Amino acid sequence: PLIHREDYCAPVYWIRTVDLCFDLEPAKTLVTSKMQIERNSAVAHGPLRLHGEELTLLRVLINGESVSFRQEGDELVIDNAPDADFALEIRNTCAPEKNTALSGLYTSGGGFFTQCEAEGFRRITYFLDRPDVMAVYSVLLRADKARYPVLLSNGNLLEQGALDNGRHFAKWHDPFPKPSYLFALVAGDLVAREQRITTRSGKDHLLQVYVRRGDLEKTEHAMNSLIASIAWDEARFKLPLDLERFMIVGVSDFNMGAMENKGLNIFNTSALLVSPATATDADFNRIEAIVAHEYFHNWTGNRVTCRDWFQLSLKEGLTVFRDQEFSMDMAAAPSARAVKRIEDVRNLRAMQFPEDSGAMAHAVRPDSYVEINNFYTPTIYEKGAEVVRMYQTLVGREGFEKGMTLYFERHDGQAVTCDDFAAAINDANPGSELSTRLDAFKRWYSQAGTPRVQARGRFDASARTWTLDLAQANPPTPGQDDKLSQVIPVRMGLLSHAGAALPLQLQGEDAAAGTERVLVLDKAEQSFTFVGLDEAPVASLLRQFSAPVVLDDGLTDAELLVLLKFDTDAFNRWEASQRLALNRLLPVVRSGEELTLDTAYIDGMRAVLRSDQLDSAFKALALTLPSEGYIAEQLDVIDPQRIHAAVGTMQLQLARALRDDWQAAFEANQVAGGYSADPVSSGKRALANLALQMLVLDAVQTGNDIWPGRAYQRFKDAGNMTERMGALTALVFARAGLAQPALERFHALFKHEPLVIDKWFALQGRAPELDGQVFARVKQLMQHPDFSLKNPNRARSLIFSLCLFNPAAFHRTDAAGYVFWADRVLELDAINPQVAGRLARVMDRWTKLAEPYRSAAHEALARVAAKPDLSSDVREVIDRALNVE
Ligand code: ARG
Ligand code: ZN
Repeated sequence: PLIHREDYCAPVYWIRTVDLCFDLEPAKTLVTSKMQIERNSAVAHGPLRLHGEELTLLRVLINGESVSFRQEGDELVIDNAPDADFALEIRNTCAPEKNTALSGLYTSGGGFFTQCEAEGFRRITYFLDRPDVMAVYSVLLRADKARYPVLLSNGNLLEQGALDNGRHFAKWHDPFPKPSYLFALVAGDLVAREQRITTRSGKDHLLQVYVRRGDLEKTEHAMNSLIASIAWDEARFKLPLDLERFMIVGVSDFNMGAMENKGLNIFNTSALLVSPATATDADFNRIEAIVAHEYFHNWTGNRVTCRDWFQLSLKEGLTVFRDQEFSMDMAAAPSARAVKRIEDVRNLRAMQFPEDSGAMAHAVRPDSYVEINNFYTPTIYEKGAEVVRMYQTLVGREGFEKGMTLYFERHDGQAVTCDDFAAAINDANPGSELSTRLDAFKRWYSQAGTPRVQARGRFDASARTWTLDLAQANPPTPGQDDKLSQVIPVRMGLLSHAGAALPLQLQGEDAAAGTERVLVLDKAEQSFTFVGLDEAPVASLLRQFSAPVVLDDGLTDAELLVLLKFDTDAFNRWEASQRLALNRLLPVVRSGEELTLDTAYIDGMRAVLRSDQLDSAFKALALTLPSEGYIAEQLDVIDPQRIHAAVGTMQLQLARALRDDWQAAFEANQVAGGYSADPVSSGKRALANLALQMLVLDAVQTGNDIWPGRAYQRFKDAGNMTERMGALTALVFARAGLAQPALERFHALFKHEPLVIDKWFALQGRAPELDGQVFARVKQLMQHPDFSLKNPNRARSLIFSLCLFNPAAFHRTDAAGYVFWADRVLELDAINPQVAGRLARVMDRWTKLAEPYRSAAHEALARVAAKPDLSSDVREVIDRALNVE
């Protein structure tokens, strides 16, 4: 059923305390739950309705007496529940080892783990499984001691000891009231890396990272990241660690990246374990960010949580913003901060922009949903983080920190809404750019779709003025035809054609206010006139990507080259590189003509590569062409094969035209000595890898064996995974003869490292398509003994790589890609609806495909839709896709 935000009602009862007892057995776990129920007098009396799914109910007692109840769908209804406070006791069983959906209590690698967000707790026991019901939990775990020597739950360990028959117990208590989605338990044969720390406030804490035996040495980076996160949150937002003990546990079967359960974060091993030999620089950075993200949730999410799931971005957007800020502060050097910002924006555009222009487009605070699991999206997370960033841009960094302080003063211990957050930031900043337009600003929460901003300049030589005309358009999205103007902060500067930063003085102002400022566009059209200018300037708009919009600034290639060379804003320098590439790609994709790179572009790129001012990480980003997905996003009608062909040609020409410079860059960016994932060394490795890829590509085309040979040697001798993977990628992407032996060698080397085998599958799944070979190989790999659909990481590594990240291999004129997709969606849906729902999203933008793709995609969608017993996850995605036809 469709659930509406407007229908929110406070519950008839609160649950204030819960005493849980688990007798853990894989086939049948017995759960006893004793709850103190409080009547919510603010609401009329009614039946007690508890959520419960896939449970076997054994008994229900109220104040120790059995009561009559009925089961209505997934609800347990007690019609005659007292109009007063009472004690409720429930006893039920669940079947962890049959739980392939990985929601609730499940087994993985011989241990027990939980995932309760959003609605998994109801698969453990009957409960008011909604985030506004917050209770204090006590948990008693009982299990076989030999198989499950470690027994963990939230909070503090009160007691543990032996029981009869080789069993033992542990008793945990979490003093902080929490919603059920933050409950967690773990039981298994695990070992821990431990660290004691004393925080600024002088309190001692025990930090632990639990993993399977043998993975311990891969937890050092996560531990260091946790320590850094704790220090950062205390320094930047005055938010301390509030628990004596903070635990992280790794598990190999997990639907998402990680989960912020109070005091007991549970992580996908892919988001936790790294070592130089098995993980890349990107993995190191990602893990630092995820450890920080989950830790930061302790305040933004746990201490202050969401009233209902429509408010999900209240905690997710804010926490992503916080982890992005943390990573930027960790990067330290200004250029490294910019690199992080570029990566974040690239990710937003690759994932969120397409979502916002497809069938599943939804607001940061949606109005309705069928399945909440479908709304853990780039819009809620990444666009939500951009909305928080805009608050900071409008009230300033200090103002934002004041707003955060007020937010916690007001709402610590509460379940609140996005409106409460907006009010706190606003009330702490009277007279700010935000306070004069708060209601309009909040349209960022309610309007889906990416705003388009057009910018054009007019120079008046006699008046020495330059007027910037800004206009915004907010295109319709499914269910939202008419939209109002958004509040769009435009951070900007002006450059002379010689590259100087010009002082910015608006008409009516007494003096220039520096060389960078923020204009606020809050109407459909608005003009800003700058005075005291001797020439028409080059406008550098939307610096640091100050708003999540598509900007059309009308700049010529000559002006973009000025920005590429001289802009003080590294984000816009990078943006210029991407725009110059798009200006060459889009016309040939539209016309189907051959692409021939011009010298202006090649010289511009050569200057980047040769620059002694830019650092390597930036060069690698600027010289990487826009992804095929991002190019598709620029087009009204998408022909994935044409895009692939154009990008391939451009890559080859860039490889050839800059061959000597690639070679010089490769040689100049070798990193000697021990491995460190710091920004400088990882930047060098990124550029060396890109250079090697270009050199091998060119060599394979010209029939030269030298660079493929060198790449193979580097692959064999590499001292870390970043270089090994870089060399292997170069061979595979160039289709070098040595690619196959290298892949085989790689598999043999790492056959006991599941996370590396995921990389092995993923690389083959996203290799550039030629004559259907990649698609055929993926189908073959489905039969590989290491492949399994049951493990989400493995399923994603092969199937998502093909369907989501390899458009040219997936969108085939014979429709075989879509047939493959439909088969996998149906197959996965029977195992794990959340993962299937994500795969179903591949067809979000099918209506924009050119023929014959469009009709074939429709047919595949219809075939999935015809299946009668789809999960709500897949059903919602498919229905919405078919509705936009
Ligand atoms: N709250 C987690 C995070 O962002 C995500 C968990 C969501 N899980 C799910 N099954 N929907 O850190
Ligand atoms: Zn989160």
